[in-house]
This record gives sequence, structure tokens and C-alpha cells, in this order.
Amino acid sequence: QMKNHSIKDLLLSTKTMSKVTINGWVRTFRANRFIALNDGSSISSVQCVVDFENFDESVLKKINTGTSLEITGDLVESQGSGQKFEIIVSDLSVLGECDSEEFPIQPKKHSFEFLRDNAHLRTRTNTFSAIMRLRSSLSFAVHNYFNSNGFYYVHTPIITSSDAEGAGEQFRVTTLNPKNPPLDENSEVDFSKDFFGKETSLTVSGQLEAETYAMSLGKVYTFGPTFRAENSNTSRHLSEFWMIEPEVAFMDLYGNMDLAESFLKYLLQYIVKNNIDDLEFLEQRLIKEDKTKPQNLRSEMTLIEKIKFVINNDFKRISYTEAFEILKNCKPNKKKKFKYLIENWGADLQSEHERYLVEKHFKCPVIIYDYPAKIKAFYMKLNDDNKTVKAMDILFPGIGEIVGGSQREERLDVLNKKMNDIGVNPNDLWWYTDLRKFGTAKHSGFGLGFERLIMFATGMSNIRDVIPFPRTPQNAEF
Ligand code: 4AD
Repeated sequence: QMKNHSIKDLLLSTKTMSKVTINGWVRTFRANRFIALNDGSSISSVQCVVDFENFDESVLKKINTGTSLEITGDLVESQGSGQKFEIIVSDLSVLGECDSEEFPIQPKKHSFEFLRDNAHLRTRTNTFSAIMRLRSSLSFAVHNYFNSNGFYYVHTPIITSSDAEGAGEQFRVTTLNPKNPPLDENSEVDFSKDFFGKETSLTVSGQLEAETYAMSLGKVYTFGPTFRAENSNTSRHLSEFWMIEPEVAFMDLYGNMDLAESFLKYLLQYIVKNNIDDLEFLEQRLIKEDKTKPQNLRSEMTLIEKIKFVINNDFKRISYTEAFEILKNCKPNKKKKFKYLIENWGADLQSEHERYLVEKHFKCPVIIYDYPAKIKAFYMKLNDDNKTVKAMDILFPGIGEIVGGSQREERLDVLNKKMNDIGVNPNDLWWYTDLRKFGTAKHSGFGLGFERLIMFATGMSNIRDVIPFPRTPQNAEF
């Protein structure tokens, strides 16, 4: 048998070909003659033309949306418009039938909610196959960027016993029997009898471990799943999400901003170069969706224009204090339109404030740095003002916070004090404080929420639609 072709390769062919074999799933079957076949290799289906006189009616009857087929035929220039090539079918076998009454994915518009309930089949649609191809491509680009810039990839642990990050509620990992756990003398659960001999949970971030590797290999990154048990049922939060965390020795906060900006631009540039068909498809989807909205809610830029805008423009960099002044004096604050009014310096910025800065005030990505120490994690480097830390968040239009990072506190005494202040015992993180004892140096890093990046890149407005099988409160199906 001849080698089977991917539909993507066939459609990129420069010449016609005889007797090619392809596999795929039927998207549509029109007029008992035209099969649109898709194998997932690209957004494009290939039109396969069957002459019904040459095939048994019993076979043709089995061809429905969703049926899997093997088709052999000649690749010829298409008679119809809309495609360069089509296949004149000489052989056709039905690999797997698909009951059109039962198959959830019909050739019509489905709501995203409905498709979430059918997440095992939603990548049979153009929208979801495009999103997931972009996701794959972006992961590849992440590794590409770091690999070509001298970073080493570190696999930080998923199970951890350090709950000091304070990034969010953690999921416990245990093998104790919940009905009858061992108890200590105070009638508390005795975790020394648990699998690891101590309390453990799923990691909220690989940063602390990545820091140990930065302080030896120099430039490192982790890219893996992270888990947060916050009960925040929003369109931007997952209980399991993927985070990219670079960590670099001898780099300060400004180097960190430069790295994050160049990294984000590279990733977006990569998909514009390599995934333009999928981006164009998603752009058209958004243009159609936009037309159903009132004029004032329509976007000023198309998807690809937005992506190119980010690639081609400097991110605006402002300190928390500058952001605070803008917000305090802005119209929605004065007219009490914000849910959380900005009054006193030191207040945490809520997503309504971040969106105002990015979407209304600056209309471009914004990096906010030097945040009040009180609202940020203990490991961030304290500034000389003793009030602010060398933190930075990157905010994106339509998304809000996409990156959070900082220069780390490298002074042992300051770090110990900060830990004690928030009630973390430095001994519990002895290996982390060791880094400050043995050849300490300034170092910095950040975390990019991979799904938030994919939301921006695809124009999807719910984070559940950019990860294959979303985990959110009350939902771990599939
Ligand atoms: O700002 P966060 O909590 O930072 C950290 O975890 C640091 N340890 C990173 C570091 O410096 N190495 O999270 C980083 C990013 C956020 O900006 C956001 O994009 C994403 O992770 N994120 C989430 N994405 C989806 N669902 C959630 N529940 C998320 N929480 C954070």
C-alpha cells in the first residue's frame, strides 16, 4: 500500500497527483456527491468527489458527518470554486460509522457550553481544532525561545510539601483513609503517618525549585501544570492550568521585564508565521460574532491586528504608584463606577482597574512594577523605600493579568524577616534560604499563564475553551 498523505500536505501540493490515499472524518456530505473530509492536520478539509454510480448505495448511506473513511483517488485541480484541489474518489472504505441521530457534533453552530459538555468531541469542529493546533504550536514556541536563548528546561515537582508560596489554596495529596485517619495526641490528623511522612499537596508554582536551578545553571525555565483550589468560578481561572516560569541568575527587575516582553512577542510572532490559517479562521469567527453585538461593543481591531499590535509596540511600563494616581483620578473612580473604589495607596488592583488601565487609558499592554510589599509574596525583593517590592505584572487587553513576576529577595536577613512577618517558619524552607547563604546573587523570574496567552492568541473569552479538558470547581469530567 502507498503511504497515506495528510490532507494538509496534499492541499499544499504544487502539482496534481494520481492515486493518493487519505484518512479522515466526514465534515459534510452534500448531494450524495461531495464529501468534505478532515483529518485534523489543518483547518482545511479536502473535497472528495464520489460518482455515486460507481459505489453501492449501501456504502454511501453510511457516510454521515463524523464517519471515518479511507479514500483513494486522484488529486486534480478543482472544478468548483473555493478550493485549488479536490479528490476524484476511486476507492472508499468506511472505517467507522457514525449515527447522525446520536452524534452531538452537527454541521451547524453549537454553543460553547454545549461543546464543553462534549469536550471529547469538540475538536471535531473547526474552531476547537484551530485552538488546539495553536496551543500545540505555542508550546513548541516556548521551548524554541528558551532553547535558542541559552535556557535549560527544569522539571520541577508536581507534588510538594512547601505550602509557603501563598499563591492560592492547595489540593492535598494523601493516601490516608478519609474515614479513619490516624490521629495524634491532640486528635488532629497525624500526617507523619501519611505516604510522604508529612503534609503534601499539588504545586501552585514551580518557582521556588526553579530558583535553586537558576542559582546553579544560570538561566532555566519550567513549563508544567499547576493547581489552585480557589473557588473562583471566573472565565479566567482554572483549577489546573499550565504555567511557564523562567528564572535567571544575575538579572534584575528591568531585565525581567525585557525578557517577558521579548518572550511574549516571540510567541505571538511564531504563530503569525506558522499558524496563519488557523488564526484567519478564528478571526473570521470573531468578525461574525462581532456583527451580532451593538456598535459600541464591537472591537476596534481584528484578531490578527491585535496580535500584530502587541508584537509591534512597546509595552507601557508604569510603577504601582503611577497606576494608583491614574486610577484615583479617573472618571469611573470619581463617579463611583468601580465596584472597588481606589482611595488609599496600598490597595490591591482588581481586574476592573487593570482593564481600565489597559483598555481605556493606555490601550496597549502595560507592565506595572514596584507594588506595595503588603499585597505581594514574601520572596519579592524589598525596595530601599521599605514599602514597595520589585514585583511586576503584565496586563493584556481583554485578558487582564497574563504575567506575574519579580526580582527575588537575595538578602538572607531581609528574607528571614519577611518570612517571619507573614508567619512562615524559615526552617520549613531551609533549602530555599540556603540559596541566600551559599553564594547568593540577585535573580529574577516570572510566571506566564499559558491559557491566558492562548485566550489572547485565539480571541476566546472563556479559559475553559483553550485547554483540552478543563478542571474548575465542581467539574472534572473526562
Ligand atoms: O501571579 P502568579 O500567581 O505567579 C506565580 O505563581 C509566581 N510564582 C510566578 C513566578 O514568578 N515564577 O501566577 C502567574 C500567572 C498569572 O499571571 C496568570 O497568567 C496565571 O499564572 N494564573 C492562572 N491562570 C489560570 N487559572 C488560574 N487560576 C491562574 N492563576 C494564575
